[in-house]
Parts: sequence; structure tokens; C-alpha cells
Amino acid sequence: MSTLKISDGVVKDEVLVLGLTSTNSKGGIAIEAGDMAIDTKTILSQLVDMGATGKADEITKLPGSHVRLLVFTGLGKKSATYTHETLRRAAGSASRALAGNSAATFSLPAKSLAEVAAVAEGAALGAYSFTEFRGSTKDDHKAPLKTITVHSKLASSAEAKASVVRAAVIAKYTYLVRDLINTPPSHLTPDSFTKKLAAVVKSAGGAKSGLKIQIWDEKQLKAQGFGGIIGVGQGSANPPRLLHISYTPKGKAAKRYAFVGKGITFDTGGLALKPALGMEAMKSDMSGAAAVSAAVIAIAELKLNVAIESWAPLAENMPSDTATRPSDIITIFGGKTVEVLNPDAEGRLVLADGLMKAQSSKNKLDGIIDVATLTGAQVVALGTRTSAVMTNNQEFSDDFLAVAAQCGEQFWPMPLPEELRASLDSPVADLANIGDRMGGMLVAGLFLKDFVNPELPWLHLDIAGPAYNEAKPHGYTPVGGTGIALRSLVTLAEQA
Ligand code: BES
Ligand code: MN
Ligand code: ZN
Repeated sequence: MSTLKISDGVVKDEVLVLGLTSTNSKGGIAIEAGDMAIDTKTILSQLVDMGATGKADEITKLPGSHVRLLVFTGLGKKSATYTHETLRRAAGSASRALAGNSAATFSLPAKSLAEVAAVAEGAALGAYSFTEFRGSTKDDHKAPLKTITVHSKLASSAEAKASVVRAAVIAKYTYLVRDLINTPPSHLTPDSFTKKLAAVVKSAGGAKSGLKIQIWDEKQLKAQGFGGIIGVGQGSANPPRLLHISYTPKGKAAKRYAFVGKGITFDTGGLALKPALGMEAMKSDMSGAAAVSAAVIAIAELKLNVAIESWAPLAENMPSDTATRPSDIITIFGGKTVEVLNPDAEGRLVLADGLMKAQSSKNKLDGIIDVATLTGAQVVALGTRTSAVMTNNQEFSDDFLAVAAQCGEQFWPMPLPEELRASLDSPVADLANIGDRMGGMLVAGLFLKDFVNPELPWLHLDIAGPAYNEAKPHGYTPVGGTGIALRSLVTLAEQA
């Protein structure tokens, strides 16, 4: 993880990152150097010669005179102010392009504290790499930036320093989510997921920081009636787990939220085996569990004044002689029965247990949020960069959408139409685990709704597409695990 700093002094690094914008449709460009005084004349004509346009995700490198390397990152159309997300992405693109260098100073057009924070966050989020499993090719891989310095006149203020600390915490736990997603299922089982998180809780201060961790093994899960987690996990040699991490702040908590994340360490589809083509992406099916578990630890590290209970039901969905068969009936925690018509609709089964358990705790909740790579229908509806929000409470959803927009995570509201619920009726159990194929994302949401107290504000976040980037890297987003949902969860807690 790179070190983040803020400074208003002379640039000490060999690399300086500045913004570049387009000023008109005829290829006009302008440099946006933020609080840094730069003689732009000769540089501008060199940039024109290089064919630089200033569009987003464009990186142009020039040799410098005071610094070794000048790096121009595209901000799009010239504007008096740039959105936080434009700054975040531009900083992220530049830090990705700077892998192999050790230190860089970023001077982008950030006037307010929030803008400076966005630059810091984007730069840090872009400086990620995942090389744990490289052997002989490890050294061919350029290491990400080790030191990132954000240049700003606000550097000496306490608030600026705090926002850089916050950005570093966001980056650290986003890296954790990405690492967990990128780790193959050979090395990330339900059991090893809990052990990795136990180690992170410990290094974040454990009980001293208000964090508590509890883990259920397969025997306890069976004895205590977690039929969803057991039913999904019983086909695998890697037994299921339930992971609970709670954070209690020092003072009286402003709010208490429960987070529940889908933790399928690999989804083969079970006996409804998925086609081989693309199955490898199902190592990302624990993205929700990773996001909620990392979020609660990040919230503790930021000492936010909210109580959080995170729940991660973890299982590996495998086909075998012990796997759940289509037509089997399982009993979810709390007593509802489900006819498993399709073992590939497994996420909702483990989440049903998780949601029920989360609501059974004696502490009164102000809201509950589940996060899941739940349906292929989500990707069909919204694509790979926009996640869905479904809810039983409009106000909670509106608040969440505002928070998500502010931290640069794309979420969009989706309905839960009552008429689709009947398709989940079963002739033999309380409900079936699949219904209408059309509107499959909404049907999955309606299934979960059956396991939520209607009085309790609830959000269901379907992140199936955005959790895992199988295309090219862009902005601060690498290939592979993205870490989506972590920033929104942490920011929601900040604003509670
Ligand atoms: N993990 C998948 C959903 C998924 C698909 C996530 C693509 C990320 C990318 C989920 O468990 C699943 O298999 N869902 C089925 C449900 C269907 C059987 C009702 C689906 O979407 O096809
Ligand atoms: Mn599945
Ligand atoms: Zn799944």
C-alpha cells in the first residue's frame, strides 16, 4: 500500500502529475495545474505535437526540466470546477500509468477540501496491484507508486490532513476487498476467508477498537438451523461458515446498521452446473461478503459514531453426491421453508439465513443493507458499471443513492413489483428459490424481501456486474475485483 501525503511546498518527487482539459471542439487544450505555478507555453505546444486532447482516461507523458517526468491526465471539457468523480478518476488513471515509478506529486484543479480529498482517494485507489500468485513473472511486473503527494495550499490545515488519512483508510480497505476477490477459490475457502478477516480485525486493534468477531462452523450452523448456508455448502469439501464482525463506538451510537454480504467463495452453479465459458469469474461471488466485512473494519478505524454488525454467510457452491438437488427443501434460520428448484440461485439462500440472523439480535436496528453479486439479470439490465438498489423504504434508498453519488459509486433504483412475488410460490414449501425469468433481478429482490421485517428500512444492493472488472482498467478501477460498495457503506456511516 502506498503512502499518502499532502504538501504545499516545493515538489521533491521526480514525477509531477497535472491536469489537461479540452477547451473547444477544434482540439484546443489547456493545462490545469491546481495550486502550482507553471510556465505552460512551451509545454502546451509540445502537448499539441503529441496529439494530447485532454479527454478522460488519456495520459500524456513529457520529460520535464525541474522534474524528471511530467504526466498529464485528462479531465475532459474545461470547466470552472470539476466533479469529485472527475478528479478521482483522473488521479487514478495517472497513478495506474505510473506503475514502475516510486513517488509522484499530484497537482490537479482541487480548490475545496472535498476536491483535494477526491484527488487523494483516486490516486491511492489507482495505485493497486495484485501479484501474490505470480511466480517467475513477478519481477516483470511494475510495482505501483510507493509515495503519493497531493499538492495543495490547504496542506497545513488539520482538516486536509484528516481527509488524507481518510483516503488512506478507504484505499487500504478497498485493496482488501479487491485482494479477497482476486484470490482464487483454491486459496480462499469459507474457512480461510474467516481466518484472513480475523487477522485484519486483530491488526485493526480488535476489541480495543470496538471490534468483535464471531465465527460459526458447519456443525454449529447445522445445530442452530442455518439451512440456507448448509444447503448451499453441503456439496463442497470446503465446509461453510458464518462470519460476524461488529463494531461498537466509544460514545452513544447515532445509528445502528446491519450489513449482510453474499459470500460464495466459488459458484459453479451446483447441480445446475454453469457453462465452462466464463465460470472463472465466479471467484468474485464473495464480493458482497468482502465489501461488508472490510467496511465495518474501515468504519472502526475511522472511529465513526455508528454501531455496525456485519454478517457474511460463506459457502462454496459445488456439484457432488452431497449437493442440494433441485426439488430439495431446506429450512432457513427462523423456520421458513424453501424449495430449491435451481441450486444456481444460491446467493438468496445464504442471504436469507444472514438476514434472519442479523434481525434476531437483541439490539434494535435502524436499517439493514445486503450486498450481493446476486443475478446475471442485474448485468443485463444495468451493465457492468452500474449497481442496483432495491428497497422497502424510499427515504433510506434516496439517502443511500445521494451518498453513493457523492462518493462516485454508480447505483440506480430498481422496483420490487408486488405482482412478481406470486411466481416464487411453491406447491410444497413456503416459497421456491426461483420465479419468473423476466425481471430476474427484481424476483431475487422479492425473494429476499420475504426475509426482512417490513418495518425495518432495508436496502438490497445487487452488484453482480460492477464487483468484478473483466474489461480494461479505467480511472482508478483495475482489472478484477473493484471494491464496489465499500465507499458507499463507509460514507453512509459517516453521515449517519
Ligand atoms: N452468482 C450468480 C450471479 C452472477 C452472474 C454474478 C453473473 C455475477 C455475474 C448467481 O448465483 C446466479 O447464478 N444467479 C442465477 C439465478 C437464476 C438461476 C435464477 C442467474 O442470474 O442466472
Ligand atoms: Mn449461482
Ligand atoms: Zn452466485
